[in-house]
Amino acid sequence: MLALTHELGARGADALNATFGVDVSGKVAIDRSQKADLQCAAAMQLAKSLKKAPREVADVLVKALADHPAVKSTDVAGPGFINIHLRDEWLKSSVHDALALRQIGTGKSVVIDYSSPNVAKPMHIAHIRSTIIGDAIKRVLRAVGYTVVADNHLGDWGTQFGKLIVAYRKWLDEKAFEENAVVELLRLYVKFIELEREQKQALGKKVDGEEEDEGATQDAPPILQEARAELVKLQQGDKENVALWQKFIDVSMREFDRVYQRLDVSFDVVLGESFYNDKLAGVVELLVDRELAEESEGAIVVRFDKERDGEALPPLLVRKKDGGFLYGTTDIAGMLYRVERWGASRVIIVTDDRQQLHFRQFFAACKQLGVKASMEHVFFGLMRLPEGTISTRDGNLIGLEDLLDEAERRATVVAKACNPELSADEAREVGRVVGLAAVKYNDLSKDRTTLVTFTWDKALSLTGNTAPYLQYAYARIQSLIAKATIAGVSAGALVSFEPTERALAMKLLAFDEVVEQVALTSRPHVLCEYLYELASHFSTFYNELSVLKAERDVGAGRLRLAQLTGSILAKGLALLGIGVLERM
Ligand code: ARG
Repeated sequence: MLALTHELGARGADALNATFGVDVSGKVAIDRSQKADLQCAAAMQLAKSLKKAPREVADVLVKALADHPAVKSTDVAGPGFINIHLRDEWLKSSVHDALALRQIGTGKSVVIDYSSPNVAKPMHIAHIRSTIIGDAIKRVLRAVGYTVVADNHLGDWGTQFGKLIVAYRKWLDEKAFEENAVVELLRLYVKFIELEREQKQALGKKVDGEEEDEGATQDAPPILQEARAELVKLQQGDKENVALWQKFIDVSMREFDRVYQRLDVSFDVVLGESFYNDKLAGVVELLVDRELAEESEGAIVVRFDKERDGEALPPLLVRKKDGGFLYGTTDIAGMLYRVERWGASRVIIVTDDRQQLHFRQFFAACKQLGVKASMEHVFFGLMRLPEGTISTRDGNLIGLEDLLDEAERRATVVAKACNPELSADEAREVGRVVGLAAVKYNDLSKDRTTLVTFTWDKALSLTGNTAPYLQYAYARIQSLIAKATIAGVSAGALVSFEPTERALAMKLLAFDEVVEQVALTSRPHVLCEYLYELASHFSTFYNELSVLKAERDVGAGRLRLAQLTGSILAKGLALLGIGVLERM
């Protein structure tokens, strides 16, 4: 219904412009209403700047709106609140176009950075959530016309590589590496950290977790000094170390790709952190030249200013004492590259909420460097999994594959119980599609900023706001359509318009509004909620009114409503990266 609300808003603004001689173009918003069909609060909002009483403004608006062919009537409530009632005939004919989406992204590029796991470490549960949410946002942005560059910002550089090289040479278990390279790399890494800790304790230093290595010191544990030496060799392009590093990336990427394939997720580019190596010194130089960064105890930091940046932020370290660069330096280089290479007007980065401060700092630095693109940190709460679904290596890759296996197995059992007619092959396919959907939908359906807990019963439930419920609603509609075909009923124009039919049509007409909202705010749960409500409206409609036994024309119109509901459910789920089944 966006075409209509925008048209009405423009009409209202034109009338105000003409009457009061003040330009309010784009300021008259028309929204959905609980009481009427639409509402407009602009009279109250604009009264002050127009220097008129709200009621007087409302009168002008009402006159302008009243002669639109879609509008049946208007009334003004309270001080100037306008209720708009739409004509049934307009709704009945417009609903056929409910699937169309406004192409607000035409001519604009957006880069979306998601998944971005770290090499030689198994994909953490946070990367999985980033993968699923990022992929849904990518699909939605494409659907509204943006040119989207999906970029997997692989963590393929950093101090851990010095440690890994040392550990690999000392302790590699070749057989284990062959069986599962990433698991073996993780074992090596953990072994290194343990030894480093022991040596630190022996040196009488305090041990407080995995702190950032702030650079070379003589009294560092011997194993750490070894790792630093290997890292320096790697950075200087030592052949053997570069080859090892490349090997770590290759074996990790193979594991990640298997997961992406299973999740049906893909990227346009994989520009890891290492891609920006040769740009980092330049970034620091630029920051210093512009007087945004300065020396501090041998290191270089970007300082922020409450006035200038809008908030007080702690300084961001961009070069260590020993000359090494950091995560933030790479991120600034990445932002400059994305804006320049793709002309991005939006850059969206999806990670868990623990990185919020980092993004505020690095975005503020980029703004000072003149980046005009809208920089958006899409963050989410971490997901908690039930006891036992994730193995001891807390939130690891194998955990995800186990989780998907289990989801498929359970969904296959549910499918067989619900529909004993399914063949074994069919049931397995239903299990695959529904199981994957349940896992994805669990990540997508709650406001992403909240903590998500996963329980099998909830995720696989056939009722409530779940993927199986929506997929089931879709399959039921397909079976209705099949029955209609056999009965010789074909879809046609809407004839009857009972309250439940009208309510369903109004809901169908909200699809474009919801998708646009997701595109603008990167909140996929809004689409989930919508699809759930749509399915509920359909089920009320279908319980109340007959399609196949109704009079021919009436049935044809109702069948059209059913078709449209099915199409929007399928398209909406596809935008979330979730498939549907004709039968389940
Ligand atoms: N590799 C990072 C991590 O695992 C995520 C990177 C997100 N993207 C970025 N441009 N910082 O935490």
